Amino acid sequence: MAIDIRPITADEIPAFRKVINRAFGGDAKNDDESVQRFKEQVDLDRTYAAFEDGNVVATAATFSFEMSLPGGAMTPMGGLTMVSVVPTHRRRGLMSRLMTAHFEDCIGRGEVVGGLWASESSIYGRYGYGNACPVVKVNFDSSKAGVPPAPDTTRIVDISEAKDAMKSIYAQVLPKRPGQLARSEVWWEHRHFRDAPEWRDGATERRYVVAYRDGDPVGYTTFRQKSKWDDGMPGGSIVVGEVMGIDTEARLSLWSLVSSVDLFPNVEAWDVPIDWELPYQVDNPRAIKRLIGDGQYVRVLDVPGALTARGYQSEDSIVISVDDPQGFTGGVYRFHASPDGSEVVEVDEEPEVAVSITTLGQLYLGATGAGSLARAGKIRGEEDAVRRFSRLLLSDPAPWCPEVY
Ligand SMILES: CC(C)(COP(=O)(O)OP(=O)(O)OC[C@H]1O[C@@H](n2cnc3c(N)ncnc32)[C@H](O)[C@@H]1OP(=O)(O)O)[C@@H](O)C(=O)NCCC(=O)NCCS
Repeated sequence: MAIDIRPITADEIPAFRKVINRAFGGDAKNDDESVQRFKEQVDLDRTYAAFEDGNVVATAATFSFEMSLPGGAMTPMGGLTMVSVVPTHRRRGLMSRLMTAHFEDCIGRGEVVGGLWASESSIYGRYGYGNACPVVKVNFDSSKAGVPPAPDTTRIVDISEAKDAMKSIYAQVLPKRPGQLARSEVWWEHRHFRDAPEWRDGATERRYVVAYRDGDPVGYTTFRQKSKWDDGMPGGSIVVGEVMGIDTEARLSLWSLVSSVDLFPNVEAWDVPIDWELPYQVDNPRAIKRLIGDGQYVRVLDVPGALTARGYQSEDSIVISVDDPQGFTGGVYRFHASPDGSEVVEVDEEPEVAVSITTLGQLYLGATGAGSLARAGKIRGEEDAVRRFSRLLLSDPAPWCPEVY
């Protein structure tokens, strides 16, 4: 039977949600409130559903994001989400058809990059996505780590007081680190202020803490508490949502607060930056356990557009070849970059380094040294050219995406 792919109408939201929720092991409530929340967050023109005989058999959607880049500029980015195929129709190429619809839509809107978070790291490399923002999951026993005291004043506040402070702090930190997403009012409300009981995983409601300096908010954190007793001894956990601060003192103040809650000696966070500074600040860094994973992936859709959108900390000129098997943006380019700007032009020259579009996605935000990828066989080129390419692209601070979509 023929399968058509098209955006959904408002009436089809419940059927679309049912397929997504089942794929991820949940049950879509589809009450009026849930459907309304979906409508507010998702642009129906950017949904893609596969219909067979009137039934939804596969889903995907794109969020219209703005992502921070090295140097502080923002770029529009199509954030792919809600990719699912019903088990009866798997491995027949439906996801690939949805991906094509998504890419054509992004390119039509002039988005030079796309992003996503992957349920499994083996899926999206074939479509040109590279892991651009590593995530680090951490846990530590605060009674052993020796976190220094808070330089700023911290206060546990009600959500009503937290909201404005969080938005203003986030606006300040957004351009300072690549890979972060601008948050609309709707996004704040649904993703960061809503506190659905099903998200708590046995923990408390979300707590909000704001750090103040001279009376002004300089940082915030959110966390939940999970109570536990081990043979009468307190063994509870603080489950950190996110820690955002305008500078290192503000962040230290918040980590210090979450590390000093009586009866809750275990501190856990699911996503801190790969260049997180706390292990360098504590007395006993070995107490901090870290597990590196893949966070936000990036797909470069327009090589000149993407490379000229971001900033650079050094100056060089290098000829690169980019292999894009899907045919969107491959070619040989002369790439000249400096702190004052960059230029990328297609040339007919011998490349000094050759990368796949997937590897370029991995390098784009500056998380990974090109040398390591060359040693892994992912980049071809003389050692010196690879080193120059690496130096151009690396970003300090490292990219980080503090939220899954
Ligand atoms: C992942 C999922 C969407 C794949 O859908 P699908 O329609 O079966 O995928 P396709 O048939 O289009 O597969 C395209 C290619 O990807 C490969 N592929 C698909 N799923 C894969 C997976 N989980 N791991 C590795 N490769 C995968 C296929 O083997 C195929 O490879 P080929 O081109 O070399 O033959 C589907 O299995 C699903 O709904 N999974 C549960 C929800 C989920 O994880 N969604 C992703 C959210 S980020």
